[in-house]
Amino acid sequence: MNRDGKNRSLWQDWPAPYQPLNSGGCDYNKVYDALIVGGGITGLTTGVLLQEAGLDCLLAEARTIGFGTSLGTTAHLNTLMDTPYPLIEKRFGLSGARLVAKAGEKAIALVETFTAETAVACNFERKTAWLVAATAEERQRLDEIREASLRAGLTAYPVSDCPVKLPFLAGCCFEAQGQVNAGAYLCSLAQRFEESGGIILEHTLVDETERETDYHKVSTMEGVIKARRLIYATHIPPGVNQFSVLCAPYRSYAVAFTLADGHYPDGLAYDMKEPYNYFRTQRVGDRDYVIAGGFDHKCGHEENTENVFRQLEAMVRAYFNVSEIAYKWSSQYFEPADGLPYIGRYPGREETFVATGFSGNGFTFGTFSAILISELIMSGESEFESLFSPSRLKPLASAKNLVMENADVVAEWLAGFWKNDKISLLTELAPGDARVVEWEGKSLAIYKSETGKIYAVNAVCPHFGCKVSWNNTERSWDCPCHGSRFSFDGSLLTGPALSGLQGRDLDES
Ligand code: FES
Repeated sequence: MNRDGKNRSLWQDWPAPYQPLNSGGCDYNKVYDALIVGGGITGLTTGVLLQEAGLDCLLAEARTIGFGTSLGTTAHLNTLMDTPYPLIEKRFGLSGARLVAKAGEKAIALVETFTAETAVACNFERKTAWLVAATAEERQRLDEIREASLRAGLTAYPVSDCPVKLPFLAGCCFEAQGQVNAGAYLCSLAQRFEESGGIILEHTLVDETERETDYHKVSTMEGVIKARRLIYATHIPPGVNQFSVLCAPYRSYAVAFTLADGHYPDGLAYDMKEPYNYFRTQRVGDRDYVIAGGFDHKCGHEENTENVFRQLEAMVRAYFNVSEIAYKWSSQYFEPADGLPYIGRYPGREETFVATGFSGNGFTFGTFSAILISELIMSGESEFESLFSPSRLKPLASAKNLVMENADVVAEWLAGFWKNDKISLLTELAPGDARVVEWEGKSLAIYKSETGKIYAVNAVCPHFGCKVSWNNTERSWDCPCHGSRFSFDGSLLTGPALSGLQGRDLDES
């Protein structure tokens, strides 16, 4: 299974025996009940729920199943969210906090049910989570989180130790969290969707959409798809829209490693640093791995992303008797302006639905999005509709800050650009290295492959005109403004951009 970066995640080498296939193709003369755009956790789960509810669904994925963040997840399932409950309660009231906790519970329960019903070994397990404070300030926040979590209806209690030997001043346990093998689970969902009659179209990028009287006309390279409902399960909706302003793109880092002493921790463990770090054990195949993650930063704001892995590895070696770092990978998530994702009806668009802004709770909120959107479609309402509505107005003040924060990076990054001529560029660029250069009034993103081949593409992101920056560990061009990502040769990896960076022939520039 492939994903949107050079590094391989733990899940890519452990797919189920089933490989998703185009099961019969699309009938371009037919009007489908729903077109789901995006073949990750959100799209596949939505497809299963709607197809099994009796709708006739088509799922279009621009690359392959799980290609985006779903195969870059660490696949922990939580009611303990990245946005702490004291903040949720403050912004959305106690009833809102209780609904968020309930949303997490429903998502974990659905994964538990689906994994119990498949023959694919998804290694789903219910786990207890430890949240650990190392300082007095963290302990105060921990107490507030525990009290607000109890008010939200979760089971939480103080503890005096943690299965991971983190610096420990105080700790709190949260019951009934979960974890799963993401690759196996995605495959099981794809299989279930196709077995119930759904059709998956891989390598199908959705481009233009147009609303006819009672259905959408959706352009793809292969033809025009017709569907009564359109569901954007693309992590961030494609194109220029309000969600690029409401959600800020972040990169997160993970490693999976084996232990020399065999003392694998039983449970999920989180510290309270900002950004926080987390740890858990996952069995895949016949081996156990500890997954550790963290060191998040805004997309495009880190000049040497490979160095982040060195810091992460140094941290895990301080806490564990590491035998082998088997996998390392990074992935993208979107931070919503007010702390809760945007899930539901797409503002101003008829029979269109969207789910985005999951923070670091992607597998949980992706699964929950499928529940909420399928409720809206099948029954016309949901108790969660108002809380998660993409039309809610709360984010405006925060959104302004996000836009400013996202825009500032361009000048900063440009400060380090080369001013060079072609000869020195070609000779001085090391194999595997890349630069953005200002050249004859144009900005070029230039990458030199390990074999010495030069790739030169326009450094200006086609989404909204920001300049991309190089991600040296994933070998990608990342846009700091709204998180579009492109391969070293300029081809589109993930939106919101709808097209890649155009190539340029150096001899003609
Ligand atoms: Fe918006 Fe690049 S993603 S300008």
